[in-house]
Amino acid sequence: MKKIVLIDASQRERANSEIIVKRIAARLSDVELHVLHMKKQNCQYCTGCGICQKSEALICSRKDDITKLLPHIDTCDSILIASPVYDHQMSSLAKLFIERFYAFYNSKAENNSSVTTRKKRAAFVMCCWTGNKEIYKKYAEWTLEGFWQIDATETKVEIFNGINEREEILSRPDYLTKIQEIADWLKA
Ligand SMILES: Cc1cc2nc3c(=O)[nH]c(=O)nc-3n(C[C@H](O)[C@H](O)[C@H](O)COP(=O)(O)O)c2cc1C
Repeated sequence: MKKIVLIDASQRERANSEIIVKRIAARLSDVELHVLHMKKQNCQYCTGCGICQKSEALICSRKDDITKLLPHIDTCDSILIASPVYDHQMSSLAKLFIERFYAFYNSKAENNSSVTTRKKRAAFVMCCWTGNKEIYKKYAEWTLEGFWQIDATETKVEIFNGINEREEILSRPDYLTKIQEIADWLKA
């Protein structure tokens, strides 16, 4: 059975990112699913303490919900992060989450990653209003370049532009179809 991790990195209630994650979760059957709604859970930033680099074991000094999720990130087949665009970039929550991948950095391991389940699929999707979609796409692709830390070798980006209000993505059937396709890709 495939293991899939979904991250909602929007700060607001009824966010478009939240809807993306919930719709993908609802579409996925016969998988082991782990969902993190960051605004509702205890998510702390990496302090750069370096403890993770001094041990072969998967450890983190933070005592929060991301540390609890690390073993599942380690062994997942696919991971998706959904974030709003804030000031031409990902949300601070999305950045906080990605920085926690440092626990998997190992310069002696294949692809510098110590993850157990290799060749993961990773998707990074962003919701935005009127900003430049092509630049956001490049930025999202660049962000995924850093996912070598979890040995993500197949990646997918989607920018859902032209949406600003809470739940506005529900009024875009083309985007809802794309969300289904992303879910199917994560499971494939
Ligand atoms: C602080 C803040 C900064 C934003 N910056 C941008 C931006 O740079 N470009 C853009 O297109 N939209 C920007 N937006 C709009 C959000 O990306 C948009 O409302 C998006 O749908 C929010 O996603 P969410 O519902 O998942 O939180 C910004 C919104 C906020 C609150």
